[in-house]
Amino acid sequence: MKTKAVIFDLDGVIVDTAKFHFMAWKALSDELGLFFDEAVNERLKGVSRMKSFEIILEVNGAQDRFTEEEKEEYIKKKNDLYVSFVKTLTPEDMLPGVAAFIGRARAAGIKTAVASVSKNAPLVLECLRAADMFDYVADAAKVEKSKPAPDIFLVCAEALGVAPADCIGVEDAQAGIEAIKAAGMFSVGINVTVTSVEPDVHLKSTSELDFEKIVK
Ligand code: G6P
Ligand code: MG
Repeated sequence: MKTKAVIFDLDGVIVDTAKFHFMAWKALSDELGLFFDEAVNERLKGVSRMKSFEIILEVNGAQDRFTEEEKEEYIKKKNDLYVSFVKTLTPEDMLPGVAAFIGRARAAGIKTAVASVSKNAPLVLECLRAADMFDYVADAAKVEKSKPAPDIFLVCAEALGVAPADCIGVEDAQAGIEAIKAAGMFSVGINVTVTSVEPDVHLKSTSELDFEKIVK
C-alpha cells in the first residue's frame, strides 16, 4: 500500500464529544424517565441520532412508547442541548497528536478527510478552527447508510480521487472499524472498547498517532 489519503472519524478521534452526547442524552432520558448510563452511551458511538434514541428506547423496553413525530421532537431537543455544549469547544480541545499528525501527512502530500455521521460535524470543525486541515468533509445528511456500512468512507475516497486500498481510516468506534474494513481500507483504531473486529493497528489514544510508524 502507498498511502495517499487519511480519512478521520470526528467524535472520539479529533475531539472528545462523547461527554457532550452523554450529558444531552442523559438530560433527555431523565426527563422521559428512561434509564441511561455510560455503558449505553458507549453503544451510541458512531451511530446516527435517531438510531441512538431507538437504542435507548430499546434498552428500556420502550420501543413503542412514542410516535415518529414525538421521536423527532425529542431528538431535536437532545440536539439543541448538545449544540449548546459544542459551542464551548475551542482549538485547545483537539485531541493530542491529531493536529501534528495531519500537518505531517499534508506536508507529505497525503490528502485528508472527515467521515463522520454527525450532522454537527461542520459546526464542531468550525469551533475547533480545524476545517482548513481537511481536503474534504463528508456531508452526513447525504450519506444514507451509516456505519458499519462503508459508504461514508467510500464517499470520502471518491471525493479525494484516491482508491480505497490507498486510504487509511481512523476510528474510535466498533461500527467505524467495521465500516473501514468493509471499504477495503487500512484501519487504525483509537481506544476501541468493543472489538468484534480488530483494527489493523490499535492505539490507546491519539497521542500515539505516530506518522512514521503508521503511514506506509
Ligand atoms: C457520531 C457520534 C455519535 C452520534 C452521531 C450523530 O457518530 O459518535 O455518538 O450519535 O455522530 O451525531 P449528530 O451530531 O448528528 O447527532
Ligand atoms: Mg467516533
